[in-house]
Amino acid sequence: MFWALGLLLASVSPAPTFTKDIAPIFYQRCVACHHPNDIAPMSLLDYKSARPWAKAIREAVLARKMPPWFADPHFGSFANDARLTAGEIDTIKSWADRGAREGDAADLPAAPVFADGWRLGNPDIVIDIGQDFVVKSGNDAYEHFVVPTNFTEGKWIRAAEIRPGNRRVVHHVHVSVVGDERQAGSTSIESMTELQSFLVREGTLTRVREDAPVVDDACATDAPDLPYLRGSQEGALASFLPGRAPDRFPDGTAKWVPPGSRLEFVVHYARTSGAPQTDRTSVGLYLAPAPPERVLRRMDLRNFFFRIPPGSPSHEVKRCFTFDENRLLLSITPHMHYRGHDVVYELRRPDGRREVLLAVPNYSFNWQLVYRFKEPVRVEKGSRLMVTTHYDNSPNNPANPDPARAIRWGDKSEEEMMTSWIEYLNPEAESARK
Ligand code: HEC
Repeated sequence: MFWALGLLLASVSPAPTFTKDIAPIFYQRCVACHHPNDIAPMSLLDYKSARPWAKAIREAVLARKMPPWFADPHFGSFANDARLTAGEIDTIKSWADRGAREGDAADLPAAPVFADGWRLGNPDIVIDIGQDFVVKSGNDAYEHFVVPTNFTEGKWIRAAEIRPGNRRVVHHVHVSVVGDERQAGSTSIESMTELQSFLVREGTLTRVREDAPVVDDACATDAPDLPYLRGSQEGALASFLPGRAPDRFPDGTAKWVPPGSRLEFVVHYARTSGAPQTDRTSVGLYLAPAPPERVLRRMDLRNFFFRIPPGSPSHEVKRCFTFDENRLLLSITPHMHYRGHDVVYELRRPDGRREVLLAVPNYSFNWQLVYRFKEPVRVEKGSRLMVTTHYDNSPNNPANPDPARAIRWGDKSEEEMMTSWIEYLNPEAESARK
């Protein structure tokens, strides 16, 4: 009897409509990527654009392929958790199943506005790479552009959005502040002088020499003392990666750009075929209204010395970091390439407690997301962070460009990386200078 009543209710309850039930979900959950001229193939801002995709949308949300999100829900709690609720999935399914109707125009909420392609609205300052750079067809390339800010006084930045000039060729971008006479910023391999003797260069690409020492477990007590296997490095001002949202810094925090500094763009141009392409990538800077309570910082942890054997289905690589001061951790971004399979961030506190901060059981090179903690993670001095990654260099990994090769660190997508970016604050409010 109850099921009969259920059926009756389902048949009389009005079918969900785009304007009333679907648009509010899409506006909140989808359109940041699904608007014209952004990374997704179609816009979901209006009914006409969304309607032909109703079936694909139904499948994508039921399979939780969309929105993209890769953190294991058993660990951590994230402010930018993209997963739809069961209710939202139900509504979308029912909309698609019951005619994918438009509904009454009066029900439509105000659509988010994307100012001239900027997700965060019009920036206060836009700085570009300073030229229309010609990307020749053929290989990947890593290009560096160092350009003046012409800032006569320092500025506090509350957000930075990198806008690729040509999405067909720009794969990812880092923008760093170069404050002194150095020619390269903190994310440039050029600035890592101790590393140079372990590297080989091919054009603008760099990789670790095949005969360089191998350290897969940089956490081992007997791990050799090689460059950047311990400690951390200062991270970039902003980064653009596939699927990653622009760098909007948390309330009350900002980053400092000193007077006279330059910006360095490191742009990874993916391989293109056909006609040469031009690119003029830029960064939009959003000024903080006042000096912040806290300075936002980013530390980068890397292992340059792993070696992934040919064919290995699950090769483990580790990197540890021991905190020498109390910190508040805000976010983690893992970075690997095509063979990256999974990564776990485990914290060991000085009293022995262990806690998994983030686990990504199915990493995807196509979606390099930032995971922002809902509440900052308080870390005591003496705590140790252990990053454990696995790489799938087997033929069963459909993304694997070549299972027959041993793989070392390299900036080309077909080589590998083991990098983590961690945004943090000092827990004590600094008298904010820089
Ligand atoms: C972080 C950016 C992002 C968000 C958020 C996002 N998408 Fe996507 N979506 C993409 C990109 C990029 C593609 C194309 C690449 C791909 O299919 O992996 C895509 C592809 C799709 C496809 C096509 C899949 C196919 O089978 O070809 C559908 C359908 C879709 N998205 C629906 C949605 C819906 C519905 C939402 C919100 C509930 C959403 N997406 C949220 C970026 C996003």
